[in-house]
Amino acid sequence: MITLDLDYAQKAYQKALDEPVLDKLVKAHKELENGTGKGNDFLGWLDLPTNMDSQITALNDAASKINAQSDYLLVIGIGGSYLGAKAAIEALSPYFGKKDGVEVLFAGHHISGEYMSDLEAYLSDKRFSINVISKSGTTTEPSIAFRRFRKLLEKQVGKTDAKTRIYATTDESKGALRTLSDKEGFTSFVIPDDVGGRYSVLSPVGLLPIAAAGIDIKAMLEGAKKANTELGEKTVTNPAYQYVMTRNALYDEGKKIEIFVHYEPKLHFLGEWWKQLFGESEGKQNLGLFPSSAGFTTDLHSLGQYIQDGERHLFETVLNIESPKKDLTIETDAENLDKLNYLTGKNVEEVNKKAMQGTLLAHHDGNAPSIVINIEKMDAEAFGYLVFFYELSCALSGYLLGVNPFDQPGVEAYKSNMFALLEKPGFEKETKAIKARFDSKKTR
Ligand code: PA5
Repeated sequence: MITLDLDYAQKAYQKALDEPVLDKLVKAHKELENGTGKGNDFLGWLDLPTNMDSQITALNDAASKINAQSDYLLVIGIGGSYLGAKAAIEALSPYFGKKDGVEVLFAGHHISGEYMSDLEAYLSDKRFSINVISKSGTTTEPSIAFRRFRKLLEKQVGKTDAKTRIYATTDESKGALRTLSDKEGFTSFVIPDDVGGRYSVLSPVGLLPIAAAGIDIKAMLEGAKKANTELGEKTVTNPAYQYVMTRNALYDEGKKIEIFVHYEPKLHFLGEWWKQLFGESEGKQNLGLFPSSAGFTTDLHSLGQYIQDGERHLFETVLNIESPKKDLTIETDAENLDKLNYLTGKNVEEVNKKAMQGTLLAHHDGNAPSIVINIEKMDAEAFGYLVFFYELSCALSGYLLGVNPFDQPGVEAYKSNMFALLEKPGFEKETKAIKARFDSKKTR
């Protein structure tokens, strides 16, 4: 379903082939499959494509109920509990106009009071349901949002009815959200213990909002299953191996930044999801490529200069959809003031593809190599395939780098400072210490 074009990163790929990287990769792959590598208690994502089959009916039933009761679904979650659904819904829905399911809105993915106020005002006269998603059930951002929007819903439809419009996706047995959900009788779905947030899009975390948006989750899981089979091959023809080997070789030669590039704006949030996946998985022990993203040709008019000509520490990974769903033709203009009549009769996508080819070559010539990932089309099946491709590539990359790709110890540092500054009970010692640092203005 996907192929890699390594012409624009040929030197790095060749270097990876010349060195015994393949052997290391096969070893890492076997460790992953046998559950003998680092973070082996978080390998549940490998089985989600098949394990979720038994939940498709329940998820689609909940999605139908949401559609019957509401015009909007408010998804409350952050990080891995939000980005996958957002990426899928953006990538698979039309840009404008009527969608196949409810309009999915998001909250709890930041702490902007202005955003929440505007959203409350917007939803106050709308029919909406809530899907609150949190594995721990105590994450600050979604918890604040859930308090407000649950109240809004109760005000709108009454406490009893509100309960029928709240869906909780959380741990099977522990945590504040599980306790509340059981007490209130919300419809609930489980985030498996062995699936980390950033690997959870193919669990109910992603699948319920995606199904509510009218997207075929069965086809998505079929795509992931296909990837699981095809990418299981332990040879250099495996596209996941080619991707991992080449990005690893580029990292070794000093290209420390990887830019996820697309030429289709609806892939913006796939880039955001990809950044969390790779950033949180690889960025530890002072190691790891910095994941960044750009949408071309838009960002060629802002970042293009730097990529072409700035510090040579970056490479691009371009996701190329070979056949976009829709296209249109450029018409002739009698005056031709913009001198564009030479494009008459061409499709807009033809121009987009030429822009891509020209950019790949220019950046290659400017020593900013590119790995090109070609996917025939973007539909639910292809999305599922891509998710599994990136997840597998990420896990294998982490093992090659020597880190645990399934933990995220670094995200606690900001939380601890924030709790100390907010004087959270239990943080008294930290509050005193952090206040002293700010008061003395010697924070660094
Ligand atoms: O990948 C992760 O683990 C994080 O992004 C979490 O998903 C995020 O912090 C939200 O956590 P929780 O689902 O516990 O609210």
